[in-house]
Amino acid sequence: MSKGLFIVKPVEPAGHVDAGEPFEGSLQGESELRRTLTARHLVLLGIGAVIGAGIFVLTGQAAANHAGPAIMLSFVLAGFACAMAGLCYAEFASMMPVSGSAYSYSYATLGEAVAWFIGWCLVLEYLFASSTVAVGWSGYLVSFLTSTLGLPFPAELASAPLTWSEGRFIATDGIINLPAVLIVAAVSGLCYVGITQSAFVNAIIVSIKVVVIAAFLGFGIQYVDPANWTPFIPENTGPGQFGLEGVYRAATIVFFAYIGFDAVSTAAGEAKNPQRDMPIGILGSLAVCTIIYIAVCAVLTGMTHYSLLGTAKPVATALEEVLKADPGASVGWLKTAVEIGAIAGLSSVILVMLMAQPRIFYSMSRDGLLPKLFGKVHPKFQTPYVGTIIVGVLACMLAGFMPLSVLGELVSMGTLLAFATVCVGVFVLRFSRPDLARPFRVPMFWLICPLGLLACLFLFLQSFMEHWKIFVGWTVLGQVIYFAYGYRHSKLRRAG
Ligand code: ALA
Repeated sequence: MSKGLFIVKPVEPAGHVDAGEPFEGSLQGESELRRTLTARHLVLLGIGAVIGAGIFVLTGQAAANHAGPAIMLSFVLAGFACAMAGLCYAEFASMMPVSGSAYSYSYATLGEAVAWFIGWCLVLEYLFASSTVAVGWSGYLVSFLTSTLGLPFPAELASAPLTWSEGRFIATDGIINLPAVLIVAAVSGLCYVGITQSAFVNAIIVSIKVVVIAAFLGFGIQYVDPANWTPFIPENTGPGQFGLEGVYRAATIVFFAYIGFDAVSTAAGEAKNPQRDMPIGILGSLAVCTIIYIAVCAVLTGMTHYSLLGTAKPVATALEEVLKADPGASVGWLKTAVEIGAIAGLSSVILVMLMAQPRIFYSMSRDGLLPKLFGKVHPKFQTPYVGTIIVGVLACMLAGFMPLSVLGELVSMGTLLAFATVCVGVFVLRFSRPDLARPFRVPMFWLICPLGLLACLFLFLQSFMEHWKIFVGWTVLGQVIYFAYGYRHSKLRRAG
């Protein structure tokens, strides 16, 4: 039985894939999605998925409660773990241009049981992240409508009927988080219609958010007071509060901000020239976002004392503080622009996450680990349309009715395990299949892979201490589904 559990899907050397030629490479049965995406699309998809709630929502609390101005260091630390993992993703995605991402890579290296576990972790990453970010989007929209435009919005239609407190569900005055449901439904509709349309809308949204962030940096820098950066690492005041410990704690929180560059790899089945363009998409978007994040943190903590940033809208808060200190400062328009940029920014995160999840399910279904309907491709739009509808409905329900505060950390935990596994996978495959053509190779893999693994596990363990019960519960649920369905229907096991 254990041999069957860890059965490895053989990787065949991939042929060259370019400009929409059908792909007959390493993993079979992946050629029905349409290959239309270029390197530019892929970089934009990465930026679309990455810049969102992490910077627009979480940064403030991480700075105010854990790291102070050293939030910049926390971003460097989390960025380091992502850079190591990103290099490993780039090697895999160029070598095996399929849509299953970390799930497919694990199947080819560490066996079916690990692949299933990672596929299950990716549900935490993509499905739950899209719902979590939709709730953040709803918060920004309602605040924009009520405070900036003066349009009232009923509070009971903007909040889930349940919240999670002290280990149990408690009823709230809310009925449904309607804006969150509507944005998920609209974005799912777009994903249903086609990857080209989705990538086009994503490119527009990304342009808006990048212009807004550039404006914030350009104008905000004038209001920076370097005195706000001292002490750079405030003295420790308790567990996880400031000092180096606080910097580490903040790194696990802001890791969420980097999630998404790996979603680029789920579009490998739809890239025109994946062997060349996947590394550009993954590493290019990661590099751009890391620079943006560190610059935003520097300006944010320079404009306002970190202790004032602990709100759900830290970027807007920093501008409000500037206005309080100097009512003549001309930043009112910038605050409105930042709110619009955040609403746009969060939409593209939801979009790419909702695109990625059905593609993981598509790959799992093609392998027999999930029912066949997840593998159905629309005859006209060439998208995994049934999976897209199912994912959309689930995401609407989560976003509309569930309290998602705890799920935010679960998203990071699932992602960190996927990253760690990809680092191990690259290492293992260098020894088990040195013959495979690797259009992109991780430099010094003997150092980068172990460093990536350790960095990801370090960040994972910080969250695991607090949320281990929920995480173990999620894993057990996954195992039950695997043994009830996947184990019995696995094509690889049946063939073998
Ligand atoms: N990185 C994405 C965000 O920050 C998930 O919203």
